[in-house]
Amino acid sequence: MAGGPSTPELVAAVAGAGAFGFLAGGMLTPDRLRAQVERTRELTALPFGANLFVPSRESSADVEGYRRRVLAEAERRGVALGEPVWDDDAYPAKVDVLVETGVPVVSFTFGLPRPSDVDRFKAAGATVVMTVTTPAEARAAAVAGADVLCVQGSAAGGHRGVFIDDPVHPAGAPSYDLLPLLRLVATQTDLPLVAAGGIAHGADVAAVLASGAVAAQLGTAFLRCPEAGTPAAHRAALAEGDRETAVTRAFSGRPARGLVNRFMADHGASAPAAYPDVNNLTKPLRAASAAASDPEAMSLWAGQAYPVAGERPAAEVVADLAEQARRAVARLSARVIG
Ligand SMILES: Cc1cc2nc3c(=O)[nH]c(=O)nc-3n(C[C@H](O)[C@H](O)[C@H](O)COP(=O)(O)O)c2cc1C
Repeated sequence: MAGGPSTPELVAAVAGAGAFGFLAGGMLTPDRLRAQVERTRELTALPFGANLFVPSRESSADVEGYRRRVLAEAERRGVALGEPVWDDDAYPAKVDVLVETGVPVVSFTFGLPRPSDVDRFKAAGATVVMTVTTPAEARAAAVAGADVLCVQGSAAGGHRGVFIDDPVHPAGAPSYDLLPLLRLVATQTDLPLVAAGGIAHGADVAAVLASGAVAAQLGTAFLRCPEAGTPAAHRAALAEGDRETAVTRAFSGRPARGLVNRFMADHGASAPAAYPDVNNLTKPLRAASAAASDPEAMSLWAGQAYPVAGERPAAEVVADLAEQARRAVARLSARVIG
C-alpha cells in the first residue's frame, strides 16, 4: 500500500500473525526501499514480499489544461502545484535493490515487468507475482513468465492495476467484479491465483478460496491498524463510514478507488490519463490537505467494503479473518453435507 499506509511494522505484524505481508516499493526512493526491507528484517525473521509500480508510458494527454483547472484550489491553500512531469519512479534501481536484498516474493502492478527483470528475479530464486484486472492481462502476464497472478477485482481500494490506458475505454479499462474475473482468468491459465478486491471478512476469504484462488489479498482491511502509516484525516474519514467510494483519475492520472471527496467531485471528470504526471502535479496539494487534516483534497483510497474494517492491531485482523473463514467453511459443509 504505497503512499503511506505500508510500513515495516505492518508487514512484520501481519507476518507474525501467520499471513504474508508486502512492503510497498512504489513512490519510495531506492534508498528508502532498501531501508524498509532492512527494517522489516529487524522486526521479523519471517518471509515477506515487496511490490513495485511498473513505469507507465509517457502520455500525450492534456495535463496543462488540468493544471490550470486545479490551480485555483492550490492558490486558495497557498501551495504551489508540483511539476506535471513523467518519471519512472526509479524503477530500475528498485529492481536492483530487491534483487540484491533477496526479497523472496516480488509483485508488480500497472503492467508487466521487463523480461530481463523477470529473469533476474527468477535467477535469484524469487517468486514473481503480476497483478491483472482483465482476462487479456492475465494471458499477457502468463506469457511474460509470472509464477502467480494477483487477480484484482473492481471493488479494490487504491490504484487499479490496469496495464495501460485504453483509448477505447477512456473512463478506464473494462472493469470486472472479482468472482467473474477469477472464473474467466482460470479459463486462461493454470497459474496460482491470488484474489484481491473488496475482501473484508473471513467468509469472503473462504469464498475466493472456494472459487479456486490459492490466497486472498487484502489492503483496506489494514488501513486503520495502528501499525499502518495511514494519515489521520484518512483514518477519520474511513471511521465515519458514510462516504461512497468511486474510481477516479483526479489525484494521480491513473484510475484508483477512494472515498468521494470534494476534489474528486470537482475534478474527476476532467482528469487526464497521465500517470505519474498528474500525481506529481497534485502532490503538494494532497500533502497540504493531509497536513491540515482536511479530507477534501487528499486521496482517501479505500475499497468498496471499507466500512467493515475496524481500528485494531493487524494481528487481530488476521486472526479474525482466519476464524471467520473456518466458521464459513463449517457452515457451508454442514449445509452441503446436511
Ligand atoms: C491505500 C492503498 C494503497 C495501495 N497501494 C498499492 C500498491 O502500492 N501496489 C499494489 O500492487 N496495490 C496497491 N493497492 C491495492 C492492493 O494491492 C489490493 O489490490 C487492494 O487493496 C485489494 O482490495 P481491498 O482494498 O478491497 O482489500 C493499494 C490499496 C490501498 C487501499
